[in-house]
Amino acid sequence: MNTKALLKSLTREEKIGQMLQIAPFFFVKHAHVEVAGHLKALNLTKKQIFEAGSVLGIGNGHEMIEVQEAYLKESRHKIPLIFMADIIHGYETIFPVPLGLASSFNPLLASKVARISALEAATSGIHVTFSPMADLSRDPRWGRVVESFGEDPYLNGQFSQAMVLGYQGQNIKDENYLASCVKHYAAYGKSEAGRDYNTVDVSRLSLHYDHMEGYRKAIEAGAKLIMTSFNVLDGIPATVNRYLLKDVLRDLWNFKGVTITDYDSLHQVIAHGVAEDDREAALRGIHAGLDIEMASTCYVNYVSELIDQGLIDEIAIDQACLRILDLKEELGLFDNPFKHAHPERALEVVRSKEHLSESRKIATESIVLLENKGVLPLKKGMKIALVGPYATSRETNGPWSWHGNNALNLNLFEALKEEIEITYMNPSEAIEDYHHEDLLAIQQADLLIFACGESMHESGEAHNRAKISLPRHQEKLYQLFKEHAKKIVTIIFAGRPLTLEPVISSDALMYAWFPGSEGARAISDLLLGQVNPSGKLPMSFPRHEGQIPLYYNHLNTGRPYDETRKNPFTSYYLDVPNTPLYPFGYGLSYTTFELGEPILSKAEMTVDEKIELKVNLKNCGPLRGQEVVQLYIRDHVAWIARPIKELKAFQKVMLEPNEEVTLTFVIQKDMLGYYNQEGKFIIEPGHFDLMIGTDSTRLMKRKITLKKE
Ligand code: BGC
Repeated sequence: MNTKALLKSLTREEKIGQMLQIAPFFFVKHAHVEVAGHLKALNLTKKQIFEAGSVLGIGNGHEMIEVQEAYLKESRHKIPLIFMADIIHGYETIFPVPLGLASSFNPLLASKVARISALEAATSGIHVTFSPMADLSRDPRWGRVVESFGEDPYLNGQFSQAMVLGYQGQNIKDENYLASCVKHYAAYGKSEAGRDYNTVDVSRLSLHYDHMEGYRKAIEAGAKLIMTSFNVLDGIPATVNRYLLKDVLRDLWNFKGVTITDYDSLHQVIAHGVAEDDREAALRGIHAGLDIEMASTCYVNYVSELIDQGLIDEIAIDQACLRILDLKEELGLFDNPFKHAHPERALEVVRSKEHLSESRKIATESIVLLENKGVLPLKKGMKIALVGPYATSRETNGPWSWHGNNALNLNLFEALKEEIEITYMNPSEAIEDYHHEDLLAIQQADLLIFACGESMHESGEAHNRAKISLPRHQEKLYQLFKEHAKKIVTIIFAGRPLTLEPVISSDALMYAWFPGSEGARAISDLLLGQVNPSGKLPMSFPRHEGQIPLYYNHLNTGRPYDETRKNPFTSYYLDVPNTPLYPFGYGLSYTTFELGEPILSKAEMTVDEKIELKVNLKNCGPLRGQEVVQLYIRDHVAWIARPIKELKAFQKVMLEPNEEVTLTFVIQKDMLGYYNQEGKFIIEPGHFDLMIGTDSTRLMKRKITLKKE
């Protein structure tokens, strides 16, 4: 399709129509996906509806075909709708939530998740996914931390990039792939006090240095769309922020794709207090360079009038519309508007055996073993008791998995029963439900598994918590069990780091996140030692909410904490240590790995040179397993203060017992520089520490120098 010629044939209203995204039930009244009630009140005319450019949220291929048919019948130019939806960690085969996925420290798995999700969703009539969420977050109170890849810019960048590559493949025209819309641009994860939709106030330096890395990497990987965030940046809502949408996105990053608002976020600039009404919101949106308006009607109702009044140049509309038409062309929709929707094929592909088995494997890599005092893996013939709300809960999918169905999942009781005998089971979390005979049964067992945590409805969008302890009476329950059980293994389901001090006396502690469709089986695989745990934390776990934000890659300050406390005037708390309960990058295995002394190929380099760091890793324990070797760098002196350490590379390797490998890390200029306040990459000569280890605290150090030219 010659999109430029098509553009010329459109009326102004038709061009503006392309910039509107609405829900499917506008076109066919019974389509079951009703995204939110307020859409009904938009008062769109039939003409406006049938000039809209895209659809938000669709259930399956049948629905997509029906909506597309209804639309094309009425529309003058027969420009197909694009169908967009939130496919966040799976379509119907649900994978671990993104924060869990990041715990795998294995971006290849993220690509696999995205590829399978794309295949299932594409076959079901979806063209664009609102994923990945590349918002860096250092605040576990924020409900959406579950959708993030954690606190570290590098890890976030690696996972965001991997997701885009997995969704999009080589070519989005291919029927098995989706276009990826990275979100929420920008710095949405910095919401004050961990409250969703709240104010963001971030320095330009931290914006470019910490927060931009995820979006930047997603765009470098070719993401076709970007979604703005609900928050302000420098007092201007991201949705109408010209600095973000034009200066950075178009001019600095050379992004050619489509920009889209978050749900109703153009209209919400009125509540932000930067526009009087929808008309002014539309004006600000166009001036900022915003293309698609999701679920509000500022553009359709006012842009034409604003052009007539000379306040908007029609060229801006042409450019936005052309970008949308080009996306349709790239997706192949002009050749086949029903492309992707194959209800017959979906029956074979969606939730296939193969996909479920991948989900199980990936979940085992996403779960983190935090404590193990010799009780895991479980030994054969043990008498096992199982208690707690997650003993029988099937709600392991986690938030943002709306095509998935928790009812199809096994719960932990069922999954364990496939393998071992459970001598006693009680799913209650009410202390009154544990009577004398229950406690006796718990006493008689060799080991008690306590499956607890927050529910999936306590995490996700708008689900923030000021207290991040185990919910309800679970801590009390733990104490009761601790008094009666011989050994206790605590398994925690959660969408965020929780404060775990009350349960660290567990004989083993396993952090399952929300592990997806096959999560219960994955936990069983790990408990029984069929798979060796290898997950590592993508966020620091605070001891107390008062430490938040707590992250490993902080600045040194002028008065860094002095452990000897000889000097009381340093940066510390009187009542809680500075350190996390569990650090970034931490996670145990059933085997033991030994890391040898790191050896450098040389100690000095110029910007065009490289240094090789070699280190031996040996599996000294009895089981095969994977370890993540992590490389951190510190730049001691620069024009700006640099963090005390920053992750710059990692390698995950599988080793048999007694097997040893030599790992090579190549140090090059990209690892030594930083993004400045203007988003430019700066490399300064000087001295750097290279630190290598298996978490962010136990590290071996070597020094290198980056020479002046
Ligand atoms: C969320 C987005 C999502 C959109 C569309 C919004 O409420 O913030 O992440 O993509 O809805 O469903």
